[in-house]
Amino acid sequence: MKLLRIDSSVRIQNSKTRMLTDYFLEQLKSNNQYSLKSRDVGINPPNFPTDEFIKANYTPEMNRTQEMKNVLTSSDTLIDELIDSEKIIIASPMYNFSISATLKAYIDNIVRVGKTFALDENGAMKGLLGGKKVLVITSRGAMSYKNDEALQAFDFQENYLTALLNFIGITDITFVNTEAQDFGTEDLKISNFEQSKKQLSELAKTW
Ligand SMILES: Cc1cc2nc3c(=O)[nH]c(=O)nc-3n(C[C@H](O)[C@H](O)[C@H](O)COP(=O)(O)O)c2cc1C
Repeated sequence: MKLLRIDSSVRIQNSKTRMLTDYFLEQLKSNNQYSLKSRDVGINPPNFPTDEFIKANYTPEMNRTQEMKNVLTSSDTLIDELIDSEKIIIASPMYNFSISATLKAYIDNIVRVGKTFALDENGAMKGLLGGKKVLVITSRGAMSYKNDEALQAFDFQENYLTALLNFIGITDITFVNTEAQDFGTEDLKISNFEQSKKQLSELAKTW
């Protein structure tokens, strides 16, 4: 099984998403053989799209100059490793009710027409990455986006990532969300973290 791990926390130490992803991979190892490719966009963020990038991307491949091809090289690499993977783990901290800017920069690099989605002659869009499985491990400072109706509306992380992954053809998505990591009591913080570990070790048996 070919596995791609994408980290996106800018925290290096004490990052809950990194710790839980490490934990899941350890659990998975005892049940599964996999080859792992790691992409850390938190520590090494991809370039933001630029005017040159967009011009190159919207120029048909056969008409691209060498300069245009060069502009797209790092995006091509990210897309190739995504296409090559069967299962993907996205470790995503919640920043300002959504994903980190580094993960958004990654997404802006991998969502490209003709590569990860296609347009038919009527302009209808179709995702090209069907058949892949994604696990999203999130961590949030606050409690509780699931149960508190007022706070639910602020969860642009799960909704956005679900819509985005669906758009590129991925529908087999599991979220493990850890809450109360910054703004709860110590007990709540620990119990939420432990609950996520439990969920992940169960999931590792079948994922
Ligand atoms: C820039 C920034 C913005 C954040 N915004 C939110 C937020 O909107 N809602 C929330 O519940 N927690 C927020 N947090 C808390 C993080 O989601 C929490 O610390 C989480 O554990 C981060 O993942 P990590 O531990 O892997 O870095 C924010 C943290 C940072 C650094």
